[in-house]
Amino acid sequence: MSDNCASHLNVLPRHVAIIMDGNGRWASRHGRARHSGHRAGVRSARAIVEASAKAGVEVLTLFAFSSENWHRPADEVNSLMRLFIEVLQREVEALDENDIELRFVGDRAQLPTILRRRMADAEARTAGNTRMKLVLAIGYGGRWDMLQAVQRIATKVRDGELDAGAIDQKLLDRHTSMAGLPDVDLLVRTGGEYRISNFLLWDLAYAEIFFTETLWPDFDSAELDAALDFFGQRLRRFGRTSDQLEVAAD
Ligand code: FPP
Repeated sequence: MSDNCASHLNVLPRHVAIIMDGNGRWASRHGRARHSGHRAGVRSARAIVEASAKAGVEVLTLFAFSSENWHRPADEVNSLMRLFIEVLQREVEALDENDIELRFVGDRAQLPTILRRRMADAEARTAGNTRMKLVLAIGYGGRWDMLQAVQRIATKVRDGELDAGAIDQKLLDRHTSMAGLPDVDLLVRTGGEYRISNFLLWDLAYAEIFFTETLWPDFDSAELDAALDFFGQRLRRFGRTSDQLEVAAD
C-alpha cells in the first residue's frame, strides 16, 4: 500500500495493471478458434512486458486468468492451462536475463501440479531481479484476495499472535497477495468493456483507468504509450482539492 500524496502532471505510473480482454473476439474476427486468440494474446503480453520495462514502469500486473474464468468450457480452460505451462517454459529465461522478477498472485489450489511447480521455479529463479516486477494474476479474484487476507488475520487473532485492536489498513494490506507492492497507479482495460471484473479491488482504490476498444492481441507499444500519456495528464488529488495541491507544489 502506498502512502498517497498528491502527484503532478507528466509522471510515469509506478504500477500498471492490465485487464487483457478481447482475445476471443480477435480470433473470431480473424476466422480462427479462440485458442489462436489466446496465443496472439501471449505475443501481445510479451511486447508489452518489454515496452513497460523500457519505459521504466516498476511493476506490471497482468490479469491472465480470473477466479470466474474457471466457469469457461473445460476445453478452453485446459488449453489456457497448457498455454501458461508452455509460456513459462519458454519465457522465464528471457525474463531472468532482462532482470525482471516474476511473481504470481491467485489461488493456486485448482491449478495443474506441473503449472504450480513451474510457477514456483520461475519465482525462485527470478527473485531479487530489480529492473521490473511482472505480476501474473492466475486464478485471481479481488474478493478471494480480501477473503484470504481476513482469514489469515483471523487465524492469528485466534491463536493469540495478534491483538484485534492492532488491525488497521496497513496490516490488512500486508496480508493481501500484493503486499509490499505499490498501489496500482494506472489500470488499462482492453476490449471495450468498462468494468473492473473482480480484479485488484483493494489496490485499485486510487488508480486512473484507461479503457480502450482495442482487442488485447492488437494492443501494442504505441497504445501503451497513449495510456502512459493519459496517466501523465491526470492530476491525482487523492481526495484533496486542486487548491490544496497547488499549495503543496509551491
Ligand atoms: C481475455 O480474452 C483473455 C483471457 C481470459 C486470458 C488469457 C490471456 C492471455 C493468454 C494473454 C497473456 C498470457 C500470459 C501468460 C501473460 P477473452 O477470452 O475474454 O476475449 P473475449 O472477451 O473476446 O471473449
